[in-house]
Amino acid sequence: MSGDLLATDIEAYLDAHEQKDLLRFITCGSVDDGKSTLIGRLLYESKLIFDDQLAALEADSKVSGTQGGDLDLALLVDGLAAEREQGITIDVAYRFFTTDRRKFIVADTPGHEQYTRNMVTGASTADVAVILVDARKGLLTQTRRHSYLVSLLGIKTVVLAVNKMDAVGYDQSVAAAIDADYRQFASGIGLDDVTVIPISALRGDNIIETGPNLSWYDGPTLLEYLETVEPVGAATGGPMRMPVQWVTRPDPSFRGFAGQLVAGSVAPGDAVRVLPGGQTSLVERIVTADGDLDVAVAGQSVTLTLADEIDVSRGDVLAAAAEPPAVADQFETSLVWMSDQPMLPGRPYLLKIGTRTVGVSIAQPKYKINVNTMEHTAARTLELNEIGVCNLNLDRAVPFDPYEVNRDMGGFIIIDRLTDVTLAAGMIHFALRRADNVHWQSVEVHKEARAAQAHQKPCVVWFTGLSGSGKSTIANLLEKRLFADGRRTYLLDGDNVRHGLNKDLGFTEADRVENIRRVAEVSKLMVDAGLIVLVSFISPFRAERRMARALLEEGEFVEVYVDTPLEVAESRDPKGLYRKARRGELVNFTGIDSPYEPPEDPEIRVDTTTMTPDEAADRVLRVLRERAILPSAGG
Ligand code: ADX
Repeated sequence: MSGDLLATDIEAYLDAHEQKDLLRFITCGSVDDGKSTLIGRLLYESKLIFDDQLAALEADSKVSGTQGGDLDLALLVDGLAAEREQGITIDVAYRFFTTDRRKFIVADTPGHEQYTRNMVTGASTADVAVILVDARKGLLTQTRRHSYLVSLLGIKTVVLAVNKMDAVGYDQSVAAAIDADYRQFASGIGLDDVTVIPISALRGDNIIETGPNLSWYDGPTLLEYLETVEPVGAATGGPMRMPVQWVTRPDPSFRGFAGQLVAGSVAPGDAVRVLPGGQTSLVERIVTADGDLDVAVAGQSVTLTLADEIDVSRGDVLAAAAEPPAVADQFETSLVWMSDQPMLPGRPYLLKIGTRTVGVSIAQPKYKINVNTMEHTAARTLELNEIGVCNLNLDRAVPFDPYEVNRDMGGFIIIDRLTDVTLAAGMIHFALRRADNVHWQSVEVHKEARAAQAHQKPCVVWFTGLSGSGKSTIANLLEKRLFADGRRTYLLDGDNVRHGLNKDLGFTEADRVENIRRVAEVSKLMVDAGLIVLVSFISPFRAERRMARALLEEGEFVEVYVDTPLEVAESRDPKGLYRKARRGELVNFTGIDSPYEPPEDPEIRVDTTTMTPDEAADRVLRVLRERAILPSAGG
């Protein structure tokens, strides 16, 4: 065993380890399927437990073990996990072990449903998945869900370890029935390279050696399998790709581009292309901390220097010049939603692909997937742990390869703009061709000309506040004054727009996001038409108000916070809606059971408890003059 070598010749031991190849695998299963025991068994058998750990394990097993004083291997793994978790949160525990033939990194992911996030993290770098089932229970929802995720994340080689065979009397027919069930399910989700191995992690049957209990079984033991499997990997061959992590410029004579090669290989003299820009150059040197290389391959982190001074920045991709990745800003994708907050179609999020982060909005799902039946069902959103297919709209084009071709070039995450939390993981299927076929049509009468003809500076005055806060009253007074002054205006009012354009929308979060997205786009068109647009919508969410602002040019968006405390708005209750909401006859009512996020930095705040509507309208007029949106009084 390697342990003996370790004792005699440390150099030879390390050297032998260097030469061995590495298999990354993930274990998944439901709670109580015996994952910890299995991993503990593998660590134990490969003698990678230190003596002091073993002593502690023997003691712990006597005190709190579940095996009647025998070694409880699960304690080993759980103990290690607890040790590591002190002070830091780890989502996935990576464990290392080795045998004479191979090195292994196993990603151990918690099995509870809410840990989809961890599974996704673990699976995204694994070559093989070991999926555990309890022989007594057979396939569970979790088995299907994990298998589907594994397949979605590009793992094509799967072992179904039918554990706890000891608990079913090592009955061959039990294993055979599960085997048949699983193969049928697996082929339906594109998993063809499936091996089913009956085991008892607890008793050690069929882990290293088959043993007498499973004498009817004639395949490889789990470890034999792991030592010899050649996984059908996601290709890291193919043309060269390197997302640029950073540009190093220690002095004016040196400019290098650092990153990890995620596909292909590169050598000095190779022609490379920078994406999305498209410029080409030749590789001059491959620089590493240990000196220059003649060649670098996928998986290596290097710094490249180029023959020409071309523009390359962080987030760009260096690629084989003759076979560059495509560049696009609209995609069909699969999304695995991993947040308690549901996905809101139309909400502005961030998308991180490779080393590049861009703005993104997600369209309503085409469908979501029932992980038990693989059925596609209609959906308006994706909730925690749901998987769906959605089109994405990026605010800038990015270089990519489909996820199926390359995980690094086609995998991405969705991030919340305000909190930076990861909300989802996604995989690019393909770019939408409609993006190629819709071009911006140039027109000859522009916003500036229309504005000049109307003698005004077009803008949006955006009123936000609770229902009954006084938005519409103030906006209406303001419009009357502007109109009397000869301004060309239009008032977009929530209640009114909801009678037409937005008749199909209700008051869920998702519908409010869409309500504001549409009215923001409409007000942008109206600004383009040269109008002064007054918008009076509750518009309760910061993210969408920010989106509306971002659609316009600097200075064109004036946010007016009509600040009326809930008690005051409720006591006015002009439409009797607060009363209805309090009686429970109206749900999702803003301020009662639906949130309102006040502006943090509005251009104008009017306090309706101290100002009359007329004074408030005056105040807005004054600010518009100060900001030179309106000519100064008398001017
Ligand atoms: S928003 O939240 O999506 O911006 P919007 O301004 O369009 O709301 O519509 C608000 C108006 O719809 C309110 O003034 C009120 O008259 C009416 N309304 C009906 N149901 C609700 C509700 N659940 N919450 C808030 N307003 C509602």
